[in-house]
Amino acid sequence: MNLIQSLLVFLSFVPIKDSSILIGKKFFLELNNLRQHYANKYNVPNMHKLIWSRTLVDISKWPNWDVSLPKARKTWRYDESVTYLPGFRDIKDQPGFTEIKDAAEAYFSNPYNNTYTMGHLELLNPVQRFIGCGPKFNAKFNEFSLIHVCLVGTEGKFTFFDTSRKSKKLPGSECHKRYKNEGGLCVAKNETEESYHGYSQDIIDDVNRIRKKYSKQFNVPNMHQLIWSDDLLKNLQNMAWNNGFMGARVTWRYVQLDTYIETFIERELSNFFEKTDVEKRSFISTNSDTTLDSLEFLNPLQKFIACGQNSNTPSLICLLGTEGKFTMFDSSGKSKEIPGSNCQKRYRNDSGVCVAIKPEEESYFGRQSDFMSDINQIRRRYAKEYRVPNMHALAWSNELAEILEPLNMTIVRAQAKKTWRYGALNTYDNTIYHIKADVTRFFEMNRTAKNDHIVKTLSDKDTMDRLEFLNPLQKTIACGRKEEEGVTYIICLLGPEGNFTIFDTSFQSQLAAGSKCHKGYYNEDGLCIMQIPTQVPIIDYRKMAEEERNKALTEEPEPEPILENHGNEISLGYLLVFLLAKLFFNI
Ligand SMILES: *[C@@H]1O[C@H](CO)[C@@H](O)[C@H](O)[C@H]1NC(C)=O
Ligand SMILES: *[C@@H]1O[C@H](CO)[C@@H](O)[C@H](O)[C@H]1NC(C)=O
Ligand SMILES: *[C@@H]1O[C@H](CO)[C@@H](O)[C@H](O)[C@H]1NC(C)=O
Ligand SMILES: *[C@@H]1O[C@H](CO)[C@@H](O)[C@H](O)[C@H]1NC(C)=O
Ligand SMILES: *[C@@H]1O[C@H](CO)[C@@H](O)[C@H](O)[C@H]1NC(C)=O
Ligand SMILES: *[C@@H]1O[C@H](CO)[C@@H](O)[C@H](O)[C@H]1NC(C)=O
Repeated sequence: MNLIQSLLVFLSFVPIKDSSILIGKKFFLELNNLRQHYANKYNVPNMHKLIWSRTLVDISKWPNWDVSLPKARKTWRYDESVTYLPGFRDIKDQPGFTEIKDAAEAYFSNPYNNTYTMGHLELLNPVQRFIGCGPKFNAKFNEFSLIHVCLVGTEGKFTFFDTSRKSKKLPGSECHKRYKNEGGLCVAKNETEESYHGYSQDIIDDVNRIRKKYSKQFNVPNMHQLIWSDDLLKNLQNMAWNNGFMGARVTWRYVQLDTYIETFIERELSNFFEKTDVEKRSFISTNSDTTLDSLEFLNPLQKFIACGQNSNTPSLICLLGTEGKFTMFDSSGKSKEIPGSNCQKRYRNDSGVCVAIKPEEESYFGRQSDFMSDINQIRRRYAKEYRVPNMHALAWSNELAEILEPLNMTIVRAQAKKTWRYGALNTYDNTIYHIKADVTRFFEMNRTAKNDHIVKTLSDKDTMDRLEFLNPLQKTIACGRKEEEGVTYIICLLGPEGNFTIFDTSFQSQLAAGSKCHKGYYNEDGLCIMQIPTQVPIIDYRKMAEEERNKALTEEPEPEPILENHGNEISLGYLLVFLLAKLFFNI
């Protein structure tokens, strides 16, 4: 038994799990010194200073390191036999260091290749940037041992520096983006911004570059350039994660990545495009109810992206909005469309992709003006489809906006159901799809199930959710952003009804849409629109005369309608005074 072995036996009785991570942190600082030493000795231009990564520590907890680990060698590699022990004053005296140095010297004189791991040499791979170590679990004794597993990322391939001593390169001269040369080592300019999961600006640049490439290759007319959304990011970080997000696929879809590596996404995409058309279709139809992984990045209609971590999951998640439905472009290679020829409003073609004309004015939450035309469009659509006689158009109400402004959600709930009710949306964008997706399930229910649903929802809470937007009797609306449990929604107050009403959804209605408008409203193509009183009535004499002629031709003459016109009254009054004055004073 040598010294290390006896130490291991002795120390394996000591609780080591937590102190181990602490020593690991010191250990890796010393490892960076070793990397720097080799960078200068062998003129390595791209030796990076390793950054401690919590995520890699978490992955190191994998219980069984004896297998070939399919997840390894994609965005991280590992060394499973690092020894570092408590009780050494100087980290440099750790037996592990001698072992690493010995392994390096052996390799310099006699290089070799191994399939799964290159052992200690993995820790000297110049292009790795992150490290995380943890005690290795010993299944036999059901405990953590003093041997550690160290993971390095984000490279999946083993690369080593030129060990011939012939390199004429300057140490630290070929650093990763955002890294600078510090004593021959490439050091991150701001360590807190670097993460094993990737740098957000890299993700969006790369994804947009990939989108442009596919847009040109497949002649996609409507591929939009993605805009980074801090709003979406905030929601992502705060929302409750339940294995795929309950809220997904309404105004956003998601991709979950082990880490952000561009080549990884490109590999997944080329796997997809190598499939036959039938395989492609079947892949999309099986997975579009959850996530299509990297293919989500190519949904041409998405406009916003945010990537980050949710507190409930260690992996990187990207949300793409505001489409809830997955749309795929024609990937047959036969498209004759012109890239950038079918952009959404406020977007224009820029080298084959649709780019926002004023990106600073676009946001995941969308625009109120778009929403107002969409909301009345969908109300009209349902009014005509279900022959609703009294579906009123919604008009924006500044009064409701003033009511809503100071309220938080607790108070909104408490005050609802008197002269207004409320409904929630994720964004003003895409309202039609958003509401339709949500109410379709209701419309497809049978009569009993519909009634049960209404009774149950109304007794559970104060809103019928998206159905509130189809209450035919509501006439005014005002919306604003409200936060609840860290997630921001658009909350709309709808008035004047405090009770929930839904139209006859049985398809039995024989009435005409817009035939029973409330007083002051008139039917405009199935929707009851408020008649806007004009200050001075505009009388179309020609039209009146024409109507009169028509009337005379077809039916009995009617008594002249009495025109109430203030303006005429005044002028008649003046005329009378003028005539009287003329009579009496002879002016
Ligand atoms: C190891 O494998 C790589 C790639 O296959 C090859 O380029 C290299 O020469 C090999 N090294 C040795 C020492 O066999
Ligand atoms: C580094 O980045 C973090 C997060 O973006 C920021 O808060 C901090 O101020 C930056 N530090 C420096 C020195 O720029
Ligand atoms: C969009 O721009 C690209 C490159 O500038 C051009 O080839 C393409 O014809 C443009 N599309 C339209 C619809 O103008
Ligand atoms: C909502 O506002 C009321 C009154 O302004 C306040 O008492 C209450 O604590 C707030 N609730 C939350 C959850 O912020
Ligand atoms: C209505 O739907 C519910 C739930 O889907 C079902 O249990 C019930 O049998 C249906 N009723 C009728 C009359 O079809
Ligand atoms: C709402 O419904 C309740 C109970 O059915 C009724 O008493 C009340 O008058 C209704 N309110 C309005 C404004 O219609």
